Amino acid sequence: MKCRKCGAPAVINMRHHKLALCAAHYLTWFVQQTERAIHKYRMFTHDERILVAVSGGKDSLALWDVLLRLGYRADGLAIDLGIDDGVYYSEHSLEMTQAFAAQHPETRLHVVSIPARYGESVPEVARRKRRVQRPCSVCGLIKRHEMNRVALEEGYDVLATGHNLDDEAATLFGNVLRWQCTYLRRQAPVLPANDAGLARKVKPFCRSYERETAAYALLRDIAYIYEECPFAVGATSLEHKATLAQLEHDAPGTKLHFYLSFLKARREGLFSAEQQEGTALHPCQKCGQPTIAPDLCAFCRLWGK
Ligand code: AMP
Ligand code: FES
Ligand code: ZN
Ligand code: ZN
Repeated sequence: MKCRKCGAPAVINMRHHKLALCAAHYLTWFVQQTERAIHKYRMFTHDERILVAVSGGKDSLALWDVLLRLGYRADGLAIDLGIDDGVYYSEHSLEMTQAFAAQHPETRLHVVSIPARYGESVPEVARRKRRVQRPCSVCGLIKRHEMNRVALEEGYDVLATGHNLDDEAATLFGNVLRWQCTYLRRQAPVLPANDAGLARKVKPFCRSYERETAAYALLRDIAYIYEECPFAVGATSLEHKATLAQLEHDAPGTKLHFYLSFLKARREGLFSAEQQEGTALHPCQKCGQPTIAPDLCAFCRLWGK
């Protein structure tokens, strides 16, 4: 297989794009693809300040790298979840992020430690709340709250996450299986900021296959954490990913079509204007972040009195 641009041996063949590229051309192509997505969905401009949520994994580190190469003003945010029950997952994740940040002195890395700030690690809160099976939903809630809090407190215009196409397609698949319209409504490449206190959220890799973000990180020599979160084992999202991988194998491009067709249907009125706007939100009495609850938001209720 040869690179379509220069004829040198290709390092990656993207069947869904009918495109094979050598390392040098792939790196350029991937950066351009990301820039196209940023423009297409009007995610942010060069004047705006971006906070990249960085987990130490391939996607978010690749995202930070690409945004800096494109000349965006992008800082990082690492949330230490305290998932270190014998596996040191959070510690390793943070080390990877800090190592990347150290190579980019022009940027700033914000670090929030959940155990230090709130007195308990994510698994500890989950256990106390008797979410015995897995702490993932509590973890997601905590991450979303902290990302939004830091973005607003530190005056960033937008919060970027490393969600890739495989993540988005699996989430979409799960939500469609149960027709969870509340979640479907909020699934988009850009969620605008609102007056109630939500920062703008963007996913510049939403059209990039996981294989592509991994290839980018490897070819760029970005050191990232290979391990998945230890609680991810057996998660339904992984089962959905496996199902979609089979469909993709049989018909390359399935994930991309599935996701892009959803976005098209969304634009063409899959949800009514009222639904798009969603339920009325008001500020949490403790932290001020928007909530549908009458007094405390779900995050503040986690920590009791
Ligand atoms: P996940 O929910 O683990 O699939 O991660 C999705 C995205 O959320 C990542 O690409 C990051 O942008 C962000 N993220 C996940 N975990 C963390 C973390 N511990 N600290 C900061 N950002 C994170
Ligand atoms: Fe949060 Fe796994 S990363 S539970
Ligand atoms: Zn080439
Ligand atoms: Zn609150």
